[in-house]
Amino acid sequence: MKAISQKRRHPLAAIALLLMGLLVTGGLYAVATTVNQAKADTTYSASDVAEGGKLFAANCATCHGVGASGSQSGPSLVGVGAAAVDFQVGTGRMPMQMNGPQAEKKPAQFNEAQTKQLAAYVASLAPGPAIPEASVIDGKGDAAKGGELFRTNCAMCHNAAAAGGALTRGKFAPALAGVSGQHIYEAMVTGPQNMPVFNDANISPEGKRDIITYLKQIESNGSPGGADLGALGPVSEGLFVWIAGLGVIIAFTIWLTSRTS
Ligand code: HEC
Ligand code: HEC
Repeated sequence: MKAISQKRRHPLAAIALLLMGLLVTGGLYAVATTVNQAKADTTYSASDVAEGGKLFAANCATCHGVGASGSQSGPSLVGVGAAAVDFQVGTGRMPMQMNGPQAEKKPAQFNEAQTKQLAAYVASLAPGPAIPEASVIDGKGDAAKGGELFRTNCAMCHNAAAAGGALTRGKFAPALAGVSGQHIYEAMVTGPQNMPVFNDANISPEGKRDIITYLKQIESNGSPGGADLGALGPVSEGLFVWIAGLGVIIAFTIWLTSRTS
């Protein structure tokens, strides 16, 4: 007993205790973060990475630099993850063709296998968000909860009916109809261009699944309240009322007066 209490007063005891504390917290943190990324980067073979590297050098390195380290014409892609590549290349935004306020969506230039190889290459540079598993993009979540999450987090840019909307300096948040569940998920975890990143702490994978479910549901249900006039709200609705409504009243007045004279 005495021996222990003497050791406890040893000048190095405090340092040893501090080191132990740091090791434990560090270890726990490492475990927690790898659990978060557990689904990442497991499906790529060495040949995917090698082929992706070749495709990258030929098609992307002019802007993104050798080894994706970035250049004046494009940002570094180290750490953006497979999800960012799958989204950008899968929606045709990359390879970018011309400089504008926003990389435009266009028909995809690479097939699925090539996109996977490019994603494998970028994912091999540093860990980053992975392509989501099928279970979170199946569109079988809770649409009502998804609608709530969408209205609080997304509607200010994408419009409450996901019809899209204008942002500053020629940028815009696109309409979300026809976007695949996988691309919706990837947009949330990578935050392309002017869109913020919604990481798992912000909206859980379950919440993201609900949002996808909601978007797919409003897409397939159409507008139960009649013509949605582009779902743009008071502007198009007001315009319609002014032109059609007033038009009818004017036509009616003309008709009435023509009958009395
Ligand atoms: C003409 C130049 C150009 C080419 C070619 C190009 N990119 Fe890009 N890329 C850009 C620019 C500029 C951005 C940044 C867009 C922005 O944020 O406004 C970007 C952004 C990206 C992003 C998003 C990064 C992030 O932070 O989420 C990815 C992923 C990407 N590019 C992948 C590729 C891949 C893969 C290729 C080749 C198939 C490619 N790019 C070809 C210019 C280019
Ligand atoms: C600050 C405004 C803003 C918010 C908030 C926002 N987005 Fe976006 N979103 C954008 C912009 C801008 C783009 C276009 C980016 C580009 O073209 O690279 C975009 C693109 C997308 C795309 C890609 C669409 C396509 O046609 O490929 C999806 C999907 C998407 N957003 C979903 C969401 C969801 C879901 C949320 C809420 C969780 C959300 N966004 C919140 C601005 C926003």
